[in-house]
Amino acid sequence: MQYMTTAEIREAYLSYFEGKGCKRMPSSSLIPDDPSLLLTSAGMVQFKPYFLQQKHLDDAYIGTTTSQKCVRTNDIDLIGTDGRHLSFFEMLGNFSFGRYFKKEMCAWALDFSVNVLGLPKDKLYMTVFEDDDETWEIWRNLGVEESHLSRLGEDDNFWRAGPTGPCGPCSEIYYDQGPEVGCGRPDCHPGCDCDRFLEYWNCVFTQYDGQEDGSLKPLPHKNIDTGMGLERIAAIMQGVTSNFDTDILRGLVGVGESLSGKTYESGTEQDDAALRVIADHSRSATFMIADGILPSNEGRGYVLRRLLRRAIMKGQLLGIEGPFMHHYVDKIVEVMGDEYPEIVENRELILGVVGNEEERFGATLRQGRVYLEQALAGMKEGDVLSGDVAFTLHDTYGFPLEVTQEICADEGIAVDTDEFARCMEQQKERARAATQDDAEAAWSTYDGTMSGILEEVGATVFEGYDKNECAATVVALLKDGARVDALAAGEEGAIVLDRTPFYAEMGGQIGDTGTIEGEGFRARVTDTKSPEKGLTVHYVTVEEGSVTVGVAAHAAIEVLRRERIRRNHSATHILHWALRTVLGDHVKQAGSYVAPDRLRFDFAHFEAVTRAQLDEVERIANEKIMEAHPVATYETSLEEAREQGVTALFGEKYGDVVRVVDMDGFSRELCGGTHVRNTAEIGLVKIESEQSVGSNLRRIEAVTSFDALAYLNAEEAELRTLAAALGVRPLEAAGRAISDAEKLKQMESEAKRAKEAAAAGDFKKIAAEAVTTSAAGYPVVIARVDNVSASALRNAWDVVRSQCGDACACVLAGRNADKPLLLAAGTDAAVAAGFNAGAIIKAIAPAIQGGGGGKPTMAQAGGKNAAGIDDALAKAREILL
Ligand code: ALA
Repeated sequence: MQYMTTAEIREAYLSYFEGKGCKRMPSSSLIPDDPSLLLTSAGMVQFKPYFLQQKHLDDAYIGTTTSQKCVRTNDIDLIGTDGRHLSFFEMLGNFSFGRYFKKEMCAWALDFSVNVLGLPKDKLYMTVFEDDDETWEIWRNLGVEESHLSRLGEDDNFWRAGPTGPCGPCSEIYYDQGPEVGCGRPDCHPGCDCDRFLEYWNCVFTQYDGQEDGSLKPLPHKNIDTGMGLERIAAIMQGVTSNFDTDILRGLVGVGESLSGKTYESGTEQDDAALRVIADHSRSATFMIADGILPSNEGRGYVLRRLLRRAIMKGQLLGIEGPFMHHYVDKIVEVMGDEYPEIVENRELILGVVGNEEERFGATLRQGRVYLEQALAGMKEGDVLSGDVAFTLHDTYGFPLEVTQEICADEGIAVDTDEFARCMEQQKERARAATQDDAEAAWSTYDGTMSGILEEVGATVFEGYDKNECAATVVALLKDGARVDALAAGEEGAIVLDRTPFYAEMGGQIGDTGTIEGEGFRARVTDTKSPEKGLTVHYVTVEEGSVTVGVAAHAAIEVLRRERIRRNHSATHILHWALRTVLGDHVKQAGSYVAPDRLRFDFAHFEAVTRAQLDEVERIANEKIMEAHPVATYETSLEEAREQGVTALFGEKYGDVVRVVDMDGFSRELCGGTHVRNTAEIGLVKIESEQSVGSNLRRIEAVTSFDALAYLNAEEAELRTLAAALGVRPLEAAGRAISDAEKLKQMESEAKRAKEAAAAGDFKKIAAEAVTTSAAGYPVVIARVDNVSASALRNAWDVVRSQCGDACACVLAGRNADKPLLLAAGTDAAVAAGFNAGAIIKAIAPAIQGGGGGKPTMAQAGGKNAAGIDDALAKAREILL
């Protein structure tokens, strides 16, 4: 057995199965096609419809083979604690949809293991499902000794993707790492919890469709679904027992070593775990972002955020200062970019997103510290912090338990880990229930009707790139989602044609509307969609006559509407180019909506776009429009397009042949939409707004051509009205409005000053009239002053003080908009003579049903009972005079 790099093993596997007749296919996105599955967690996910016979593979192939990027986070807390658990891994797989089965699969698995990888046969052990005699015999016939075979039950040897859907018994292949690895028990066997027998290949014989009631419905064909963990087999081939000692992951551990100055496996176990966690999590994060996932507080975005934060936290634990994740991203791009070009293409974006999250999380960490400090405030040495608090810190602030423990330990406080574990378990229960719901929902979306139509009538030929109307034949009709033979006048339903000029909603471009008519019928098309790739479905209301399957028809789109859609779609490409030019290459389209009257463009970017940047984007976009560039479209292979640097979009899954929309070379994007022939047709693009629609996600809304004109006209009309109101010409309106506003402000402050001066005059008068001598001998003003605020009461005291000399005091009370207010104040000399504002307020506030207080020199109170103001003053007189 010879050392093989991860890349060599990957290539050997894929070419082996390619040689057997399997089609080599790219890994599908981490965002699965099933709308309700959170993340792609196995190679078979992209092939579910094939197992269920809703899709079919080209007859030239006997199956498929892939290296699938996968993310699984159900055991996230175990990652780092050992050498086995990973959140990101590559699964090598080969899949058969009714062509080859157990016999071929077992023979090839053994052949590949022994003759390609060079694994010694006597180190291989196979397990089969308890009653699967057939597979047992197959292995025996392939020369596997009885002593190397065992039977295991449902838990180990029956594989399901979820509670329902394709599943079946499986046979697993284990590699014996030798008695020195693992538990050392003499009865240690494949399936034991320890590391001695390493399961590296799972061959699933997918022959059932699991039903909701738990029963197993045989699938029409028997299938193969296999998964070989690439990191595991790499560990075997590289003679190591931990995934983290294989080439790629060890390289990432090395990044952490040089950043922290620590050496792996020569310090504390906690440091080693931290190095492992960052190596693992940085890969999941890099690939998730490349597939268009951004950190958020729900769904996949939350999974990403947790992974990123856990990695950042571990970095801090290792003593790495400042943002560091970019070093990992760079390393991953360097060693995995050849196989997964998406991480190379999205490098800038990935770097921006991780950097941003590091910055944000810094703030959350500080908040978490505050939360923990508050929880610790009333505690003393020897106390125990509740597990609930530790859980909140873990769940909300991303503090791993050990960090909380460490901080608490400094104060001599322990953490209730049992309660923490209970909280974690409850959360897992909730997550399990949610995943179950997800999986069930995923299967219920597979209703075979549309794929059935596609199978039967074939893909719809799209004529709409250069025609607005065409002759066609009605090949299928639907009503309420089910197939029918006819649709009569007044009915709503759907028409499928063999060919059509109607564009089905896709890639953000809205579906066409128009008419489909024929001998004796006319239907109005209200929307066009593509529920199955390749199939166009026209949603219609039949206006006249009756349409039946098989009749000839004439399909015509609403041309003016399409023209507007075209302009807006081309404008999104130009804006995309302009945004990248002005803001940088990290700008990536994250979604778009192209309607006849407006367009919306969402893109990844890390801060608000400034007014000046937006103006520049608009200016250069219009420059490209006015330069009148021809727009060409052509088909090419995805590889070719990538090599030419054509912009591919997030989450899109391309077939082998792709369509490029090329605007004279300045903008080239993969796109199936309809476009103008020359940029000049757009006329003008006007950006209406720019805003945030999520973290790292911005949206611009814009209008083009006549809608841009209408928008500008509306703004102009508004300006004219404003100018008329101000009595100036439109272009002088802003200047006048600004100077008027300034004048108004000035007048308001003058009015305020005048009012204050008048009030000060009043206070002077009040002070002069109400001044008496206190029992202690200093002058004191006890008076009622209504309709003034608390701050004006304080001003009144200033006036009193300026009138009555060094040692003086006052008690003022009044009503301000129904609320009673009290103020007592005295100079230092009065206080020295025994005056205490705080004590007086305490004594008189009950009269107004109020509370308050303050210092001996100044105290205030508010209350509920304005009728008690005079009583309060009377009380003050009693105390002071
Ligand atoms: N789908 C199987 C697994 O994930 C091969 O183990």
